[in-house]
Amino acid sequence: MKKPRAFITRQIPQKGLEMLRQEADVEVWQEPLPPPYETLSQKARRVDALLCLLTDKVDGKLMDAIGPQIKVISQMAVGFDNIDIAAATARGIPVGNTPGVLTDTTADFAWALLMSAARRIVEGDKFTRAGKWQTWGPIDFLGPDVTGATLGIVGFGRIGKALAKRAQGFDMRVLYFDKRRHPESEKELHAQYADLNTLLREADFVSLHTSLSQDTYHLIDDERLGLMKPGSILINTARGPVVDTEALFRALSSGTIAYAALDVTDPEPINRDHPLLTLDNVIIAPHIASASFKTRNKMATMAAENLIAGLKGERLPNCVNPDVYNGFN
Ligand code: DGY
Repeated sequence: MKKPRAFITRQIPQKGLEMLRQEADVEVWQEPLPPPYETLSQKARRVDALLCLLTDKVDGKLMDAIGPQIKVISQMAVGFDNIDIAAATARGIPVGNTPGVLTDTTADFAWALLMSAARRIVEGDKFTRAGKWQTWGPIDFLGPDVTGATLGIVGFGRIGKALAKRAQGFDMRVLYFDKRRHPESEKELHAQYADLNTLLREADFVSLHTSLSQDTYHLIDDERLGLMKPGSILINTARGPVVDTEALFRALSSGTIAYAALDVTDPEPINRDHPLLTLDNVIIAPHIASASFKTRNKMATMAAENLIAGLKGERLPNCVNPDVYNGFN
């Protein structure tokens, strides 16, 4: 029997690919950069399943170009702001994602950014490589202590909570802001709810863990940066557009806040000549918070499981638009 067709928008860890190859006739985009939108529209025409990444724009127009035979869109990421979910639901296409498996890996990375910014590790490394290290300096590379400081977590989902857990080991006071309160976690993680402005005023470190939506676009803007303490540090491992990049540049260059450590930017990737890159008080990683061997393997197998379930007409193990199963499409 002829296998269904699937298109994968980049090379993914082997294990996921092997699972897919057993069930489908798979075409993989081999280039290191994502397929341009028009190319993707053509390549994915008439496929039964699409496995995409956060770097692919998947809107209604693309879904229509693929055709009505498409049974599933499977995103190899937990975030899915690149996909028009309403458009998928309207067309009866279930969309899968990969929640849970990257929680600890991402929280570890947010923690690494926090420590690196506070203790100026990246700056120190650049200094050493530039041959500038001549002696031990009593007032060189000073930064704030992490132990005992106040951490503000914006977005208290899985990753935000995992960060709070790490903060316990450093005797930090943890404040969190979320759409709703989490009484169980407040107890377990000794975290205190605060409204966003209070959190920003009181925290020494602010770490962002919200998804990107209309509500969170530019959540951190000039005004909110202005509320933060002058010595404070902003960490973003969520999505770039949650922060107004121009406002962040102003805040970092004027001393409104002390430092930023980012895994995500807006635009992404950030241009080589972007003004942010002229500053010493910012660390920018290339969106690698989930990049551990184990986690990326799990993400690939989860994405494969979602895709295979969709091809078989079964409910996706992790579906972001379960309304498709309720006849709301
Ligand atoms: C996600 O999964 O949404 C991350 O940004 C990449 O792993």
